[in-house]
Amino acid sequence: MSDRTSSISTPNGKSSELPVLSGTHGPDVLDVRGLYKDTGHFTYDPGYATTASCKSAITFIDGDEGVLLYRGYPIEQLAEHSTYLEVCYLLMYGELPNPQQSEEFNSIISHHTMVHENIRDFINGFRYDAHPMAMLVGTIGALSSFYHDSLDINNPLHREISAQRLIAKMPTIASYCYNHYRGLPFMYPDNSLSYVENFTRLMFAVPAEEFEPNPVAVKALELIMILHADHEQNASTSTVRLAGSSGANPFASIAAGVASLWGPAHGGANEACVNMLDAIVNSGETIEKTIARAKDKNDPFRLMGFGHRVYKNFDPRAKLIQKMCHDLLNELGGDTPMFELARKLEEATLADEYFIERRLYPNVDFYSGIIFRALNIPMNMFTVMFAMSRTVGWISHWMEMHEDPEGRIGRPRQIYTGAAKRDYPV
Ligand code: SDX
Repeated sequence: MSDRTSSISTPNGKSSELPVLSGTHGPDVLDVRGLYKDTGHFTYDPGYATTASCKSAITFIDGDEGVLLYRGYPIEQLAEHSTYLEVCYLLMYGELPNPQQSEEFNSIISHHTMVHENIRDFINGFRYDAHPMAMLVGTIGALSSFYHDSLDINNPLHREISAQRLIAKMPTIASYCYNHYRGLPFMYPDNSLSYVENFTRLMFAVPAEEFEPNPVAVKALELIMILHADHEQNASTSTVRLAGSSGANPFASIAAGVASLWGPAHGGANEACVNMLDAIVNSGETIEKTIARAKDKNDPFRLMGFGHRVYKNFDPRAKLIQKMCHDLLNELGGDTPMFELARKLEEATLADEYFIERRLYPNVDFYSGIIFRALNIPMNMFTVMFAMSRTVGWISHWMEMHEDPEGRIGRPRQIYTGAAKRDYPV
């Protein structure tokens, strides 16, 4: 318990001594759990902009300084030195693996990459033109019906094997959604390849030909996946926690996270951003006109890939992705006009009072779509890529929640603004 408190008095003459809690980094927190009992008042915070929903040791963001730490390690250092599976181990277990732990973890993941053959039939049941995110959210939820041996959420071993299965099977399922959409055969995983190499093979190989992973593409995807792995209590992670807090099984909880990520204000922004850039290029609209539309309160148009609830400085991931984008286009060629437009949009906003005043900067979704396009990944797969990368973050938070002694079912309150109590007319 904290020995520091903050006193609050309410208009009804009551008061409360709120404990002040501190974390390793970040602002102090007023513990308001006793507020209603002491004062008869709720707190009100739509969108939870200033509400800490839980204690977590996984990721820390300093939005003013543009800092992102996974278990204390700066994202820039992990992006330069780590691999996605090493980051998965770090996020799940809290420490970087030693060589033996790394070998064991990679082997476990490799040997869970296949899915039940019925999953093929399940995905083939979708319409030919189903959006891959619609297929993904349904299929992840359906995994609950295949793994009855590991659904006891109170068993730490069941929680761990479910986490490993989800991380291992996401690339396979993502590639099935992609190949169903293209009408091409589903490929089997190849355990002789690395996690990301295997994903490129699942996505782009065909049974009729040999396949060699492109090292440039693998390097770009490894970075993209590391940068998207986790991000504190964002909308989809909070959805996973809230779903999981009722005792829902891990597959149902992660399916809820996939559904939340799909929204264009969240993980759907990468697809929305490339659609926006495409529309600007095709319409010949000037940068000035685009910026003016984004600022016009009467126009619902927003600059996709800009702004962030927490980052009021550059999203550190956007800086890393922008550099990778530039290097990739130099190596592979690709949509340079779109990249140049993105750069000009970014430059224009940095000099524009509206964006400066509101501290709106490019976020992780601003450049990622251009990289996916350069890698021949179609737009309707962009958010699937985000979901595949974020699975480890979601499941790490789900595991942490179940280990939290203060964990309880999430049940927010409200300000009721409806009709006053009234009798039924008889
Ligand atoms: C992700 O939370 C996470 O960590 C998410 C994420 C992760 O890794 O999990 O980082 C991934 O979701 C990144 C964000 C991707 N979304 C987009 O790029 C969509 C476009 N951006 C926005 O819609 C918006 O910026 C949000 C949703 C990201 C943040 O919304 P907030 O914090 O609720 O901010 P707001 O909507 O209250 O906006 C504040 C002001 C408003 O103007 P005023 O009413 O004060 O005059 O800024 C304006 C907004 O109109 N504004 C924008 C804008 N974003 C905010 N104006 C033009 N273009 C934009 N993109």
